[in-house]
Amino acid sequence: MTRYDQIKEQLLAEPKTWLITGVAGFIGSNLLETLLKLEQKVVGLDNFATGHQRNLDEVKGLVSDAQWSNFTFIEGDIRNYEDCASAVGGIDYVLHQAALGSVPRSIADPLTTNASNITGFINMLQAAKEAKVQSFTYAASSSTYGDHPALPKVEENIGNPLSPYAVTKYVNELYASVFARTYGFKTIGLRYFNVFGKRQDPNGAYAAVIPKWTAAMIEGKEVFINGDGETSRDFCFIENTVQMNILAATAKEEAKDNVYNVAVGDRTTLNQLYGAISEALNENGIEVNGEPTYRDFRAGDVRHSQANVDKANNLLGYEPQYRILEGISKAMPWYKEFLS
Ligand SMILES: NC(=O)c1ccc[n+]([C@@H]2O[C@H](COP(=O)([O-])OP(=O)(O)OC[C@H]3O[C@@H](n4cnc5c(N)ncnc54)[C@H](O)[C@@H]3O)[C@@H](O)[C@H]2O)c1
Repeated sequence: MTRYDQIKEQLLAEPKTWLITGVAGFIGSNLLETLLKLEQKVVGLDNFATGHQRNLDEVKGLVSDAQWSNFTFIEGDIRNYEDCASAVGGIDYVLHQAALGSVPRSIADPLTTNASNITGFINMLQAAKEAKVQSFTYAASSSTYGDHPALPKVEENIGNPLSPYAVTKYVNELYASVFARTYGFKTIGLRYFNVFGKRQDPNGAYAAVIPKWTAAMIEGKEVFINGDGETSRDFCFIENTVQMNILAATAKEEAKDNVYNVAVGDRTTLNQLYGAISEALNENGIEVNGEPTYRDFRAGDVRHSQANVDKANNLLGYEPQYRILEGISKAMPWYKEFLS
């Protein structure tokens, strides 16, 4: 039995109360779905900056009425300390996901990204510390590796940040470690590497590559590859990310005051990704015609990314259950339905 299976059994036997910030977003709503199915009580906080009511409605349709009644939603903004303080009362485990994602968004508007990702982060950290929650797990980012050339990435070796977004996520880690040293409030940061799966938003200027390309292919639109297509990423299916959040929230004290890579340990180029998505869509009866259009590299993007996940495996018992192709074939039917 894996540690994840053991923890799920324990949670079912003894339900906890969780706070998910960013609950109306992609990762937040997937966490919500899993936790409600595990009979947990969940409070969710979101201001709908990039999240959607439709994500919450979809989860409602996937759980029982009794499970849904265990969910309380607070519409609020983490930039406002009072909203954070009112959300953390009575919470055992915090999963802090709320932030403005996207490297290009942060380059276009660094102030708004800073406000949610740094001010909002420290508000949540302080509120959670004051409320004496049992654990605080937060979404960090692989962008923190910046220009460090080594592959695969190990947690200890980071380079210079390449975007305002990367700075904000690194500042989260700095505040988290200072809160451990100064107040003894120990947290866990999860450096996500390109998470993908159902409910990841395919719309808008700042959509992530997998939903953006999938939508373009389904709608018969042009697909753009930034650069030569040999840029690579360690794409991580959402179920692996959910596993890590649950393992981190329930971790022993020795595993806290740490950051962990959340990925698979694989490396996929954009050219390979294009092939994988078109093949999966073909299997779903959607014929993908044409070739991608190559254009300039995008500012702020890291060239290659691949994680070493040994630390998460050793200290948290993390065992990624899905590699990229399995994740893509699981996600495609959702996009087909969502976009038709
Ligand atoms: N998806 C990825 O590949 C990836 C990679 C690295 C890190 N992350 C981090 O994971 C977290 C979740 O990302 P996601 O992909 O689910 O993005 P998302 O945009 O779908 O979800 C973020 C949620 O946070 C909410 N939010 C933003 N600002 C807020 C504020 N000021 N107050 C309250 N709520 C606010 C949004 O409305 C949204 O629902 C973010 O912290 C992101 O930076 C994601």
